[in-house]
Amino acid sequence: MTESNNTADNYQSSHNLRQRDGAFEPAKISHNILFLQKFFRHGTRIASVWPSSRFMARASIRHANFSSARCVVELGAGTGPITSEIVKRLNGQTRFLALERDPDFVEVLTNRFPASPRVQILQADVGYLDAILHDNGIAPHGVDCFVSGLGTPSLPEAVRKAMFSAVRKYLRPDGFFSNITEFPLYYLNFYKSVFEHVSFQFVALNMPPGGVYHCRNMR
Ligand SMILES: C[S@@+](CC[C@H](N)C(=O)[O-])C[C@H]1O[C@@H](n2cnc3c(N)ncnc32)[C@H](O)[C@@H]1O
Repeated sequence: MTESNNTADNYQSSHNLRQRDGAFEPAKISHNILFLQKFFRHGTRIASVWPSSRFMARASIRHANFSSARCVVELGAGTGPITSEIVKRLNGQTRFLALERDPDFVEVLTNRFPASPRVQILQADVGYLDAILHDNGIAPHGVDCFVSGLGTPSLPEAVRKAMFSAVRKYLRPDGFFSNITEFPLYYLNFYKSVFEHVSFQFVALNMPPGGVYHCRNMR
């Protein structure tokens, strides 16, 4: 399998109609093994040894209001543990875009979550988030929440800057950004340098234990 290159026009989306709203394939052990193999091959590019537990996934969407959300964007979806918790909760009005750079993970995601007009799996690098959201018809301040599984502080600086610039442009003023981590509290000051309001939620039941930064109001 080949890695994607990091060009804005390299992202792809799938638009097949889902057979049943909210239906998706459960995670398989083969997904976890693929994740582990990717970690050994690519290390910090994957940023974790094992997919998030359901406790971590649920913590990451703790502040999402799915009864009123119009648009939810997931960054770095991996094999889909957070994706599945979001898809379960989507109402008929919410658009959901899940971005992932790795083509093998994208294949897992598109098999697990057949796309619909409301659910899109996009093979994309977050460095091109602005173009991706624009091309998919998302208006500025049109995103209720960004749910990130990325190792954000370790992203290349240019990618991180481009990503936060797009988050600033597309996040609703009352929206939130969450980011999982395997280093509890270690990056608190990093997130506080980007957002005015940051809280940290510890998640013990994850491999390894970690947590979620819940962030609002970009500086
Ligand atoms: C720590 S894993 C989290 C995966 C999944 N969300 C979970 O919770 O198990 C980070 C994911 O971000 C993806 N990723 C890393 N850098 C990326 C980038 N620049 N653009 C898009 N995805 C990226 C990796 O391929 C990996 O799947």
